[in-house]
Amino acid sequence: MCGIVGYVGGREALPVLLDGLKRLEYRGYDSSGVVVLNGGGLKVERAPGKLAALELRLKARPIAGRAGLGHTRWATHGGVTEGNAHPHRSCDGTIAVVHNGIVENYAELRKELRGHSFTSDTDTEVVAHLVEHFYRKQGGKHPLRALTLALEKIRGSFALGVIFADHPDLLLAARVNCPLVLGIGKGENFLASDLSALLRHTRRILPLEEGEVAKIDRDGVQVFDRRLGKIRRRPLRISWKADTAAKGGYAHFMLKEIHEQQQTIAAEVQGRDRALDGVRLPRDVERIVIVACGTAWHAGLVGKTAIEELARVPVEVGLASELRYGDSPFGPGTLTVAVSQSGETADTMAAVRMAQAAGSSVLAVTNVRGSTLAREAEQVLFMRAGLEVGVAATKTYTSQVMNLVLLAAHLGRRRGTLSAGRFQSILDGARRLPGQVERVLAAAPGIRKWAKKFSRGYDFMYIGRRYNLATAYEGALKMKEISYLHAEGYGAGEMKHGPLALVDEKMVCVAIAPRGRVTEKMVSNIQEIRARKGRVIAIATEGDALVRGVADHVFEIPACDEMWSPVLAVIPLQLFAYHAATALGRDVDQPRNLAKSVTVE
Ligand code: M6R
Repeated sequence: MCGIVGYVGGREALPVLLDGLKRLEYRGYDSSGVVVLNGGGLKVERAPGKLAALELRLKARPIAGRAGLGHTRWATHGGVTEGNAHPHRSCDGTIAVVHNGIVENYAELRKELRGHSFTSDTDTEVVAHLVEHFYRKQGGKHPLRALTLALEKIRGSFALGVIFADHPDLLLAARVNCPLVLGIGKGENFLASDLSALLRHTRRILPLEEGEVAKIDRDGVQVFDRRLGKIRRRPLRISWKADTAAKGGYAHFMLKEIHEQQQTIAAEVQGRDRALDGVRLPRDVERIVIVACGTAWHAGLVGKTAIEELARVPVEVGLASELRYGDSPFGPGTLTVAVSQSGETADTMAAVRMAQAAGSSVLAVTNVRGSTLAREAEQVLFMRAGLEVGVAATKTYTSQVMNLVLLAAHLGRRRGTLSAGRFQSILDGARRLPGQVERVLAAAPGIRKWAKKFSRGYDFMYIGRRYNLATAYEGALKMKEISYLHAEGYGAGEMKHGPLALVDEKMVCVAIAPRGRVTEKMVSNIQEIRARKGRVIAIATEGDALVRGVADHVFEIPACDEMWSPVLAVIPLQLFAYHAATALGRDVDQPRNLAKSVTVE
């Protein structure tokens, strides 16, 4: 969490920093700040609240200069105040630091730095003082050396940007367990937490690896290991378009990203066979462990059902945040599938490293080239969802589901558990999805009416079974994270083991009941809810009279193979959450307390 951006070059730094922060704001939006090298000194402006508050201040008092750093904060240590906003400075104000991550031993270091005066409650400020300490010790001449000496003292995770008043046109960067990329331009260079902040300026991206530090000036970037040995690596060329980071006429990124699913799903289908053919899937794999968090974990649940059905391999889906502290389920006969949109989620990465240490090979499913996961996994399936800006995952969820179901089909084919005919009919089903998504989106206006009606005074229970248990979890997560309404996802068959007690006329049950192995079971579960005065909105297959006969409201999705139904069924639920949130005036793209990329545990 937290976004950092840096610029050095021939242009005014401030507009570049503010534009970068706008694109990184989804990583945290408790406060923001910038530092710009101006007339031989460092000028800082910070403001609590959204970036707009900082922009307002800078409009009144712009800072000129051609090098600087910016930060948007997701608070970990210290409240949301101006004093705790980054950048943080050394005692004499000549060194400034922006930080993403956590300095775990900051209290200890703070005590050691006797004589330094601290002005914030943050863990980050200690970094500015530590660098200052070593910089002075080195006679004020070796900024990079001072940074590496400071890093030796720090425990925790960090991506850092540092600027010195005495070294105009120089930025320093460092990373341990938090993402940081360098952008290479012409006569100007950049650093940022992720490439979305840089796409307007350059497509040449050099991700920093674990433990590396970098010097960035207007003529180039140099990467070093901690002993200051030079590292040479070629930058990546990124093909994402800068305009994917704009709303394109939609009121919110989330709405735009929901509508983009027709294209992103088509992109997942095209060329996926070739990508999967290139993946080494051991025929004799004994078990698969899928590791992920949040929405990606829900996609993992769909993957489990598909792999067990089509490839007959037992699958465990581990919540990375739990699994990393348990007894390792990994071993040499286990294939680990790590699912992460960002490829940077701290818990998922910890589980990946645990798997590798136990001899398990890791196949990553991620959306971001150059991400930590993409670099560390043995094999990667890149999703084709493009940049997702809304904090609530939408198009990246359906992309993850597509990849996992197609992976299951390919694995089944290679293991001989899936006939050629069945394999082909699953692929044909995938090819029909983009057209079916178009129909789902065209029918969506009705959802808005229901969302408005139920957005006040109701609780929500989302229920599903088999492939759509994950859809129930995901629908409920969408609702709670952007509307702040109380929503639970539950296995429909589990209702009678407790949650049925919650059902009354103020409970809206969203039943995901497309045609498949458990439709009749779902119908019985819906009836149990109706008998207790619960209201039921059902997601059903077109023309399904059975479900229509028992639900209060029905949203129909086109007929499809059961394993594809989570892709179609989740879209009306994304829209339901979206319209409930907008009816309540919520900040849909940046819901409170959250950040898109969870790089701290
Ligand atoms: O980048 P990841 O896929 O690893 O992120 C995992 C979760 O933080 C993420 O899926 C989160 O639950 C969603 N943004 C919620 O909509």
